[in-house]
Amino acid sequence: MNDHAMPDLADLDLSPEDMLALGNTVVARSVAHLADLNTMASCGDYTDIEAFCRSLREPAPEHGTPLDALLDPLFDEWIPRSFTTPGPGYLAYIPGGGIFPAALADFIASSTNRYTGVWRAAPALVQLESNALDWLRDWMEFPSEARGLFTTGGSMAMFNAIACARELHLGNEIRSGTLYVSSQSHHSIAKAARLAGIAHDRVRTIDVDAEFRMRVHDLERAIASDRSAGLKPFMVFSTAGTTNTGAVDPIDDIADLSASEGLWHHVDGAYGAFFHMVPELRPLLRGLPRADSLTLDPHKGMFMPYGIGALLVRDGEALRALHSTTAGYLPKNQDEFYDPAQYGPDLSRGFPGLRVWLTLKLFGAVRYRAALAEKRELALWAAEQVARIPGIVMDALPQLSLFAFHLESPALDTLEAQNAATRALMTRVTQRGRVMMTGAAVGERYLGRVCVLSFRTRRAAAEACVEDLTSVTAELLTDADAGRFATTGSPL
Ligand SMILES: Cc1ncc(COP(=O)(O)O)c(C=O)c1O
Repeated sequence: MNDHAMPDLADLDLSPEDMLALGNTVVARSVAHLADLNTMASCGDYTDIEAFCRSLREPAPEHGTPLDALLDPLFDEWIPRSFTTPGPGYLAYIPGGGIFPAALADFIASSTNRYTGVWRAAPALVQLESNALDWLRDWMEFPSEARGLFTTGGSMAMFNAIACARELHLGNEIRSGTLYVSSQSHHSIAKAARLAGIAHDRVRTIDVDAEFRMRVHDLERAIASDRSAGLKPFMVFSTAGTTNTGAVDPIDDIADLSASEGLWHHVDGAYGAFFHMVPELRPLLRGLPRADSLTLDPHKGMFMPYGIGALLVRDGEALRALHSTTAGYLPKNQDEFYDPAQYGPDLSRGFPGLRVWLTLKLFGAVRYRAALAEKRELALWAAEQVARIPGIVMDALPQLSLFAFHLESPALDTLEAQNAATRALMTRVTQRGRVMMTGAAVGERYLGRVCVLSFRTRRAAAEACVEDLTSVTAELLTDADAGRFATTGSPL
């Protein structure tokens, strides 16, 4: 038998030289991509995108392909057909960023592939994750008995918080429990509630005031009305920075009411909580440390790549009581050290904390605070400029780093026309390629919005935002005056 004639198909390991060559190729491609971000269109090419996607469908490959042949279309054709989320001009939705050291941490976590589900499998690594959670706890001024969990995003943080509050307050009597959000709360809460067994007919939506903050008196009335109907109010959500307009609810007042009513108060800080890292900005989020639980989204305010959220729970034992379990084949649970599977739903898991730990250790919190403070300054500056553009009416000034506005002019004499013009403003500014913006329907009105949160957004991008909003607004108002303005469908 000739051993050399038959390749060993079952051997999937690579030689150190081959791994290094593949790794270098990938890092070089990624770094070249990042180096181009400044000149890349703020939103990729969506021409015939459906047909393009259909053309990508293919059966599973029976045989391998050289890496370069895979990376070429990935970097040249597929990645560019997307929102340029890591770019400096990404002012749409709630930006994140994708800070580079976190990508390296992911590489280390995946290549070393240690198991952090149970403490005993990688005690020192779990301790690093625990440290990272403790840093979040300290920045949020939560007490030492608070415990947390890294999740895949804000939505899963919300799900775990609701499950925890439900377990503690309702036990098996789930059906009578009612939960309160504002009309500006993120839709992930209602979804998480449903996943956690709280049906939509038990989720109450409270109105907001002129600054899009929850009306606390309405909340109080809704709670009283549910109690008198024999229901059991158990949980209130306030938001530290809404997605639509950046509003920060009266967290302190809601904390007071929750305390007097005996309700679990969760703060959704997916967008805004990290501003609490900056001591000078803490007054903007007054009351946040009083929450029973808090959603944070490191893939937003900590500029991490997508895929990481976090939950803090004041009563750490309540979180543990929800999740703690064991099996005959596992090491015995222990009490001294943080143990991820005892505080969250996952058993087998990678090492999500490493991206936070490594990036923080590399940069230090001082630089994070500087970056966050700068994003707010840029938003304040941009909002001031945008407010001066003829035709723009400001609906929400930055409470943190997001502002919202709409277009008006004598020729845009109906709400419908104003909405269409504001929508067109977002689309046309984005089409210019320097910045990307998206709007939001708030009640009957469509608002344009700018959210500054990416670590790559610096002064130049803020200036481009103001310049393009100025010129496109003038263009749209001229069109409207000439009666030439037609509704432009947004591709977003
Ligand atoms: C205020 C707010 N809450 C919750 C979420 C949901 O977070 P995720 O997308 O990480 O699941 C978002 C997402 O943008 C958000 O802006």
